[in-house]
Amino acid sequence: MKTVFFTGKGGVGKSTLSATLAWQLAEKGFRVLAVSIDPAHNLGDIYGKKLSFKKKKFSEHLYLQEINLEKAADEYVKANMNLMREIYGYLQSFNMDKYFSILKYSPGIEEYAALTALEKILTSERENFDYIVFDTPPTGLTLHIFALPGITLSWLERLIKIRQEILKKRYTIHNIRGKYEAKGVPLVYDEKDDNVIKKLYELQERYSLVLSLLQGKNNAVSVVFNPDYLSLKESQRLLTGLSDLGLPVQGAFNNKMTEKSGEIAEMVEETLKKDHSSLTIQRVPYRADSMQEGYKLPCDITLPFL
Ligand SMILES: Nc1ncnc2c1ncn2[C@@H]1O[C@H](COP(=O)(O)OP(=O)(O)OP(=O)(O)O)[C@@H](O)[C@H]1O
Ligand SMILES: [Mg+2]
Repeated sequence: MKTVFFTGKGGVGKSTLSATLAWQLAEKGFRVLAVSIDPAHNLGDIYGKKLSFKKKKFSEHLYLQEINLEKAADEYVKANMNLMREIYGYLQSFNMDKYFSILKYSPGIEEYAALTALEKILTSERENFDYIVFDTPPTGLTLHIFALPGITLSWLERLIKIRQEILKKRYTIHNIRGKYEAKGVPLVYDEKDDNVIKKLYELQERYSLVLSLLQGKNNAVSVVFNPDYLSLKESQRLLTGLSDLGLPVQGAFNNKMTEKSGEIAEMVEETLKKDHSSLTIQRVPYRADSMQEGYKLPCDITLPFL
């Protein structure tokens, strides 16, 4: 399975290109899943379908799906609160219920929810599709989502060390005063009995897998831009961000080209290539009748690794 993420500034054509590439690959006979992780959800509009998290068949080889970030955030908070209750049920003072309604608005929750949904798709659909094409939200949120696995892994490394220290201290206490219980729950000191450290190791394994999938050779992140100055500036920031995160940029698309784009289009492309000389840039023409079947741009969308 190969994955493609179309990224870029708001309105440059990420959804249109995602929809077009997914359609073209499916027409060639590949099994394709097109997924929207953009809260704006234009992908469904482009195909003229109402989408949900349950994948929907569009044509013989093409399936469509969308991640509802608000719902995903709700589920993410609920699942984690249940987990906390389960693990820390013996702590009477640990009452998170009153924070529940505001937790889902905490900074980062939406990104974690998106990443969790992404992980679910990447791991559960691996065998079912040749390609998964992701339509992403504009630059900022996408970079936040991509940055999360790495950030989380450094946190987990620290937390595992802290937990190991706690278990070591518990062991010392155990040796001095014998078996100790809180509300009938024995305070364990061995890693194999400790649910907290087991959960931390599990998270470490999960996020390492997501990171390796995102940074691996079967993933391509594509940058979409338009022949204009603001689009150039944002693409430069995006390319720097993607390279900082170790993500494989595969191709860029200069979308909505018209006959009048000539000089500015060349300036934008040359400037991008100055810092990213190996970047392949494909021009995509402006389609005057874009109201109709938005997934049928009249040119082949190609990427080096397809
Ligand atoms: N090649 C094209 N020719 C003509 N119109 C286009 C082309 N590409 C995109 N558009 C139009 O530009 C608008 C924005 O496109 P699209 O929704 O695909 O961009 P986006 O980057 O996904 O936007 P957002 O950041 O809001 O998700 C839409 O009206 C779309 O029909
Ligand atoms: Mg879009």
